Amino acid sequence: MPETYLMSNPARARAGIAAAAAALARGALVGLPTETVYGLAADARSDRAVAAIFAAKGRPQFNPLIVHVAAADDAGRIARLSAAAERLAAAFWPGPLTLVLPRRRASGISDLATAGLDTVAIRVPDHAVAQAVLAAAAMPVAAPSANRSGHVSPTTAGHVAADLGDAIAVLLDAGPTGIGLESTVVGFDGDRAVLLRPGGLPRDAIEAVLGAALAAPGGTADRPASPGMLAKHYAPAARVRLEATDVQPGEALLAFGPALPPGADRAASVANLSPAGDVVEAAANLFAMLRALDAKSDAIAVMPIPHEGLGEAIADRLRRAAEGR
Ligand code: TXA
Ligand code: MG
Repeated sequence: MPETYLMSNPARARAGIAAAAAALARGALVGLPTETVYGLAADARSDRAVAAIFAAKGRPQFNPLIVHVAAADDAGRIARLSAAAERLAAAFWPGPLTLVLPRRRASGISDLATAGLDTVAIRVPDHAVAQAVLAAAAMPVAAPSANRSGHVSPTTAGHVAADLGDAIAVLLDAGPTGIGLESTVVGFDGDRAVLLRPGGLPRDAIEAVLGAALAAPGGTADRPASPGMLAKHYAPAARVRLEATDVQPGEALLAFGPALPPGADRAASVANLSPAGDVVEAAANLFAMLRALDAKSDAIAVMPIPHEGLGEAIADRLRRAAEGR
């Protein structure tokens, strides 16, 4: 099990940041909170450290990682930002937006982290602990979500320990993450901004800054523009049934809103993403509740959830959960 630090205790928090920076410096793995989900962090410049991420996650090596930096200036040393990218960075960093950008030849980023692509995914996390680690380590940090490949992303340190405890040197526990969905990933096709992955920053906010609609990614289901968007991702072991308007015998219920459907009283288990019907609250609860229901039943019925705002990313993750076994 990793050295775990409860970040709510100031003395432990200081020790945890120092331990995390030391672990990163020696090429070891750190579990750290961001505002979206917990990340599995390593030195993005080191092939050996990045290889340890892939090994720990059991992740296909063609799937490139997000590089986390402290500020937009650091991003500019690794990649070239177009005018549109600069505008998005100014509006949303730090925050739950990842930009896929042309990498500089002398970026110093491991080719393993970018899976040999000539682009690199970068974001500036909006979390005090992630920022403190980046400052103390003084390096770009590669960090995919800290789950085993194919599992749902972790929103608590307990999820990280359950999936990857043996592989991590240091785990920083800052409680549940605020947003609960991974960052929105935006790439560029010439002048057009492309939504590669819906996530914690809603489409409308990005389109308002761009003054243009986000394009849909090219590519196919087998070869998506963003390699991580293969359908079988984020999957619980249980069978997931979407848009459920009733609960079948043996199913657990993932509910949304105040009114439960017929059969809810005999559900194997019930978790409500947001009794008030709020998609932001639902996003924060989604992965933890999927994990909890997955442990209790081998079938999960999911009530309809509106697709507005963060609902687009919720719908994306649920579709993958339903298709992904
Ligand atoms: O919120 C998040 O983004 C979390 C936290 C820890 O920051 N990280 C995360 O990383 O979700 P990961 O590795 O699970 O997802 C990275 C996504 C994948 O869909 C991957 O394919 C895409 O970003 N990606 C990374 N580099 C890319 C590139 N050069 N071109 C296209 N897509 C890229
Ligand atoms: Mg992931």
